[in-house]
Amino acid sequence: MSRFALLSLLVLAGGLSGCDSLPGKPTEAERPVLPSKVMDFAKLYDANCAGCHGANGQLGAARALNDALYLAWAGDDELVRVTANGVPGTAMPAFAVSQGGGLTDEQITALIDEMVTRWGGKASDVDGLNLPPHEASLGDPESGAQTYATFCAACHGADGTGGTAPGSIVDGSYLALVSDQALRSIVVVGRKDLGMPDWRHLIPGRPMSDAQIADVVAWLASKRVPFPGQMGGLGQNSQEGKTDG
Ligand code: HEC
Ligand code: HEC
Repeated sequence: MSRFALLSLLVLAGGLSGCDSLPGKPTEAERPVLPSKVMDFAKLYDANCAGCHGANGQLGAARALNDALYLAWAGDDELVRVTANGVPGTAMPAFAVSQGGGLTDEQITALIDEMVTRWGGKASDVDGLNLPPHEASLGDPESGAQTYATFCAACHGADGTGGTAPGSIVDGSYLALVSDQALRSIVVVGRKDLGMPDWRHLIPGRPMSDAQIADVVAWLASKRVPFPGQMGGLGQNSQEGKTDG
């Protein structure tokens, strides 16, 4: 083969494989995607939500999102709203760029759409369920104490500090971290991932009424303390000290 032929062969080979495949140069698929352009559900969920709501939407410190009943009860608009705006006063951050978060409106909508597609049930699953309203004012805490004894004490103990279900649900620090709405979610939808049934099955065959739900949430809310996280009485004493002096 002549030198010229060899050279043109090399040039041809180079030209065919293209400059994109030079060693070390990332391919299109390997190029980093701008964070604001990521649309992949697994990437969005794992990077933004899994730390609190659990891998695969379950068994996190915050409520399970991989729960068809919860997703149907809350509804897409509310899921988007909470994700965009967060829940002030709790650990739930605002994700919308307009609220100081890191997700575009398109990303939030895509994330919720896909969450409902993957983890939601069929519309027919919740048809005729007579779902309690998603939002409602607090009821009466005194009736709530009675409701608690009837529907909750069997698992959470007579005073809520723990029974067959581990942990205190009347702990001041716990209650300081959750909103009334989140408490309402737990009573209505339960925590299937942790073994707490929904409002229909706390007592088999005896669903809670809307009033009972509102009352027991008010009872829980009434257990909030002014100085959460401080040793019993200490916060109050130091505060008294201030007003005395
Ligand atoms: C059949 C048993 C059972 C009944 C009845 C029950 N729970 Fe639970 N509940 C559980 C279990 C199990 C957990 C999870 C505890 C854990 O693993 O931390 C739980 C957790 C909770 C939590 C904490 C959830 C969280 O996200 O950490 C609250 C609040 C709560 N229950 C309130 C109630 C109230 C109010 C009632 C009555 C209306 C009630 N529960 C009835 C079993 C029950
Ligand atoms: C740093 C922890 C944290 C991260 C990260 C987080 N959440 Fe939350 N989320 C919470 C907490 C805590 C609550 C309960 C807030 C309250 O008390 O109302 C919550 C509540 C929610 C609720 C409402 C639940 C209810 O019962 O009303 C939705 C929906 C939700 N988060 C979706 C998301 C999505 C989607 C992401 C990811 C884009 C996300 N969260 C990331 C902690 C977090």
